[in-house]
Amino acid sequence: MKTRLLKGTSGDIDIAASIIKEGGLVAFPTETVYGLGADALNAEAVEKIYIAKGRPNDNPTIVTIAEQQDIYELCPHVTEDMKKLMDAFWPGPMTMIVPAADIIPPVTTANLPTAGMRMPDSDLTRELIRRSRPLAGPSANLSGKPSPTTAQHVMDDMDGRIDAVLDGGPCRVGIESTIIDMSSDEPMILRPGMITRAQFEEVLGKRVLLDKTLNVKPDPAQGDFKPKAPGQKYKHYAPNAPMILFQGEHEKVMAAIEEEKKKHEQAGEKVCVIAFSENQSELAAHEIYARLREADKEDVDIILATALPEQGEGFSVMNRMLKSAGFNIKEV
Ligand code: TXA
Ligand code: MG
Repeated sequence: MKTRLLKGTSGDIDIAASIIKEGGLVAFPTETVYGLGADALNAEAVEKIYIAKGRPNDNPTIVTIAEQQDIYELCPHVTEDMKKLMDAFWPGPMTMIVPAADIIPPVTTANLPTAGMRMPDSDLTRELIRRSRPLAGPSANLSGKPSPTTAQHVMDDMDGRIDAVLDGGPCRVGIESTIIDMSSDEPMILRPGMITRAQFEEVLGKRVLLDKTLNVKPDPAQGDFKPKAPGQKYKHYAPNAPMILFQGEHEKVMAAIEEEKKKHEQAGEKVCVIAFSENQSELAAHEIYARLREADKEDVDIILATALPEQGEGFSVMNRMLKSAGFNIKEV
């Protein structure tokens, strides 16, 4: 299959829309990461996503919509709290888990009674959806790899596997949307992102829970590591080389990284250092996947990175970095 690289002209959006309507796959830009889109209501089309990504079939895809009103045909029961969140955060980096309407095929929700709804802050993608269909839209990386934040990243993983990539330039945020489960009375964050728990609590005027498995090293002895978002149990965001996270006071961390780097270089190894200071969580979110992909391209032997303070947005970036590093942390 030849993968077409489309820019954002109206003609390009038309081409992308016809591919979707015919049951094909188009990668699309969002403010978080690039998504891999198929008609969310066409089971055969959604199955192609799983094949292209090599994604386990018990991992549901979220449904990407263009307007708030689109949720009403996809969810039978839109609550006042859901409306508050949509008004406050859409279009933007929030995915809401809601009861799923029967028109959503089981392959899209991986047989769950719920579905994730997302309205991204990308005019290009929202126009594509208006001209075609709601999109089943997981991140457009090969399963397990860091998510793509440029059209080139998508091509690196998906060239020859999908029909087209719609290029909307680099993603503004850089890590995936916050997932909040609104399908029960107690809202719960299943995947942290740039919209924080404090922001949700302020809008809802009530407590929001955090899935207790977040940012905690899975313990194989426990046997039942079951995050509420099925995808979170799989290997994720992983570069090819091993990665170590250095945690502690910033200057000590930088010194320890320097020392470790020398050691590896003396052994003839190629080292990648990814360093952010404590107050650079937003920058880290924006950069992290690109840096990990670069490390893969450069074929480095080891990645040495600074940990971030696990508060607010730092918690969300660390959620990704901990997985990239397989929870390999060095306290200094
Ligand atoms: O920012 C984003 O959300 C990006 C862009 C492309 O929109 N998309 C994205 O999709 O990150 P994906 O498939 O890579 O991650 C979606 C996560 C997975 O961990 C999946 O298990 C979870 O959402 N999920 C989807 N539907 C769910 C449901 N009904 N209940 C619980 N978790 C769900
Ligand atoms: Mg993903």
